[in-house]
Amino acid sequence: MRNSNRQWKLARYPEGMPKVDDWVLDEAPVPEPGPGELLLGARFLDVAPYMRGRINPAKNYAAGVSPGDVMIGGAVSEVLSSNADGYAPGDLVVCDFEFGWQDYAVLHAARVRRVDTALAPAECWLDVLGLNGVTAYFGLFDAASMRAGDTVVVSAASGSVGQIVGQLTKIAGGRAIAVTSTSDKLEWCRELGFDDGIAYRETDDLAGVLRKLCSDGLDVYFDNTVGPNLDAALQNLAPRARITICGTVSLAGRFGEADLGERYWRQVLVARARIQGFLVLDYQDRYGEARERLAGWVREGRIRQRFDIAEGLERAPEAFIRLLTSRNQGKQLVSV
Ligand SMILES: NC(=O)c1ccc[n+]([C@@H]2O[C@H](COP(=O)([O-])OP(=O)(O)OC[C@H]3O[C@@H](n4cnc5c(N)ncnc54)[C@H](OP(=O)(O)O)[C@@H]3O)[C@@H](O)[C@H]2O)c1
Repeated sequence: MRNSNRQWKLARYPEGMPKVDDWVLDEAPVPEPGPGELLLGARFLDVAPYMRGRINPAKNYAAGVSPGDVMIGGAVSEVLSSNADGYAPGDLVVCDFEFGWQDYAVLHAARVRRVDTALAPAECWLDVLGLNGVTAYFGLFDAASMRAGDTVVVSAASGSVGQIVGQLTKIAGGRAIAVTSTSDKLEWCRELGFDDGIAYRETDDLAGVLRKLCSDGLDVYFDNTVGPNLDAALQNLAPRARITICGTVSLAGRFGEADLGERYWRQVLVARARIQGFLVLDYQDRYGEARERLAGWVREGRIRQRFDIAEGLERAPEAFIRLLTSRNQGKQLVSV
C-alpha cells in the first residue's frame, strides 16, 4: 500500500476537446474510514464519455466537477479496511460514480455493490454488469420498445454500450447493424454476432450504404453519437421507427457550440417515428431486474465484451481522451 493517495484533480474546464493538462496529479493523505465505511484501494477505474458533460460549467442532468475537485468516476476496488458489517479486507466491490480518479477512497458500505468474480471477471462489473449493461438493456427494450424481427442500427457499436446493444438485439430476435469508425472495429462487431455494418470513416455516403443494408428501413436506431450518424439514420426510418438518444459523443470537442447538422426532421414526420432522450439514472429502481437477466446471459456466454485497459493511474486522462477520439477498442478502463 502507498503512504499517500494520488488524485487527479480538474485544473480547468476544458475548451473543446479535453487535453491531458486539463487535470493535475496531486497527492493527499490516505483517508480513514468512519463508522459504516470502507477504505477502498482502486483496481480498475472507469473512464466514460458521460464525464465530458461533468467537466463543463453548463447545466447538466447531474452535478459537475469544479476546478480543484477530484475527478468523478466509478471503480472496482478492494476493501483494505472495513467498519461495516458484512465486508472484510480482500473483498471486491464496485461503485458507479463516487470513487474518483485516485488510488484510495472511503465510501459508506451502502454506496457499493459486491463483485462476484465467479460470475464474471472484475472488469465486467464496470461494463455489462455495471451501468453500461443496464443502459443497453433499458435503452433498447424500454426506451426503443425493441421487438423480435426489428432491424436495429447502433452507433459506436464496437464500444462498451454498443457491443451490448448488438448482442441483446440478437438475443431478442432482431437484426443488428453496426455503425463504427473503421473496418477493424466492424470486424469485431461481426465476431460478436452483428449481422452487418458500416465503417463510417470509410464511406462518403453513410445514408446510402445504410439504405442498402436496411432496404425496408430501420425499426430502431440506438444512438450513442448524434451528429452525421444520426442524420444518416433519419434518412432511413421504417414506419413507426423508434430512436433512443443515449449519447452525444461526437460533440465532445464542441461543448458550448450549437448542435447543428443536416437533420431530416421531415423524415420523422413521414415515418411517424418516436425519438426518446434516455438517461439510465431514471431506471435505478429497476437495475436489479436488468442485472439479473444480463448476468444470466453472461453466464451462458451469450454476451461477450472487449476491453481496452490502460495501465496505471497516471494514464487516466489520456485513457479518457482516447474514448472521445475513437481510439479505444472496446470498453476503456484504467488498471491501478
Ligand atoms: N444516457 C445514458 O444514461 C448513458 C449511459 C451510459 C453511456 N451513455 C452514452 O453511451 C455512449 C457510449 O458510451 P461508452 O461508454 O459505451 O463509450 P464507447 O462507445 O466505448 O467509446 C466511445 C466511442 O464513441 C465513438 N466516437 C468518438 N468520437 C466520435 C465522433 N466524433 N463521432 C462518432 N463517434 C465517435 C467511438 O467509436 P467509433 O470509433 O466507432 O466512432 C468511441 O469508441 C456515450 O455517448 C455515452 O455518453 C449514455
